Amino acid sequence: MSDKKPWAGRFNEPTYAFVEAFTASVDFDQRLAAYDIAGSMAHASMLTKQGILSDDERDAIHAGLEKIQQRIAAGDFPWSVSLEDVHMNIEAVLTEDIGIAGKKLHTGRSRNDQVATDVRLWLRDEIATIQAELRRFQHALLDLAEREADTILPGFTHLQTAQPVTFGHHMMAWFEMLDRDYGRFEDCAARMNVMPLGAAALAGTTYPIDRHHTAELLGFDRPAENSLDAVSDRDFAIEFCAAASILMMHLSRMSEELIIWSSAQFHFVTLSYAFCTGSSIMPQKKNPDVPELVRGKSGRIFGHLMALLTLMKGQPLAYNKDNQEDKEPLFDTVDNVKGSLKVFADMVPAITCNKDKMRAATLQGFATATDLADYLVRKGVPFRDAHEIVGKSVALGVETNRDLAEMSLDELKQFSSMIEQDVFEVLTLEGSVAARDHIGGTAPSQVRAAIKRARERLG
Ligand code: ARG
Repeated sequence: MSDKKPWAGRFNEPTYAFVEAFTASVDFDQRLAAYDIAGSMAHASMLTKQGILSDDERDAIHAGLEKIQQRIAAGDFPWSVSLEDVHMNIEAVLTEDIGIAGKKLHTGRSRNDQVATDVRLWLRDEIATIQAELRRFQHALLDLAEREADTILPGFTHLQTAQPVTFGHHMMAWFEMLDRDYGRFEDCAARMNVMPLGAAALAGTTYPIDRHHTAELLGFDRPAENSLDAVSDRDFAIEFCAAASILMMHLSRMSEELIIWSSAQFHFVTLSYAFCTGSSIMPQKKNPDVPELVRGKSGRIFGHLMALLTLMKGQPLAYNKDNQEDKEPLFDTVDNVKGSLKVFADMVPAITCNKDKMRAATLQGFATATDLADYLVRKGVPFRDAHEIVGKSVALGVETNRDLAEMSLDELKQFSSMIEQDVFEVLTLEGSVAARDHIGGTAPSQVRAAIKRARERLG
């Protein structure tokens, strides 16, 4: 096949070999091939409908592109760096295969609107895959939350024992984080779904094209309004990386909790052996590598967001070669987000709760102190005074190394005469969680109701 560059007409010297390799993107943008072909097929159909190509030419282009698609899928396509990118590689092979009709495909089009279209088509599919993985992960969390709706562990603020919560409630907090992520990807996909084709290089084209028709064939909501914007806009890529960064920040926080919880000191949860690795020197080790790696990967995803913002900030309209640099960060973001979601969705069902350890930990650290204060308030003590009374009781507990529930009624009474025998009901862990019985609260009944609503929402 000829490696003659389609743009070489005015050039009187061959490209310096290093520049050829340096400016080429085919090594990575061949990932877009299927979308490039879909875009070309729709473009050829539109040109034919408008009388710019003949039916025969269109049929030859379609058949030729289909054959190319098969060759690419079979790993039998002669990718060439001297043809720079995925677009010129495919066009060159098409022209070699079908002759003149292949040379006509680029009528009324430029690589500038072509690449902007390809990336949108590709990312639209990837977002759908990511959303499906997110939903799978959310369903896994709902199942785990249901299984552990009554399991009690210490809730923390400042990583200090705060109040008892249910494990199901904690899993539902993760669920909500992911639900917002899902919505962000949804918004991104909706805003992205406009078609650049027809913008050509930057100003539009002199041929009587029908952009609405091409948009419809490719499943876009509409053609982009402004040709300059259409070829130079990469907001959708930035928006996607921003949504991905927030998601990875969430996964990183979840990872951090799993790492702490699975340590010997906490031992709240056990991760399946299938998701841990050992140490080459310390025989006792079972390391939570999967959450650690996901926590680590969040860094590179934030980096990609920063890379794209920086890529765009200095660019005048319209297309600049800088834009070729959008692909690798975007591809890496997609790969790592999909991988991280998959591994979490697979790992979560295999988490087991060590209820005794959680319970024992909740019984330390005065987790029911607020319940005692609330009890006094119900007996007419102003909240600030109740806070003071409980603070003094806690001080006695610290001094004598006992929890509030382990003190006698007489001991507690020395801090307030309002305290009666019924205080011990509110000092139990079950009483404490059950009392937070309103929408959004940690009571097991509320967790079950939240799971039910979530299942209805997800359908
Ligand atoms: N490989 C290029 C990119 O990814 C395609 C568009 C090139 N256009 C151009 N006029 N050089 O952005």
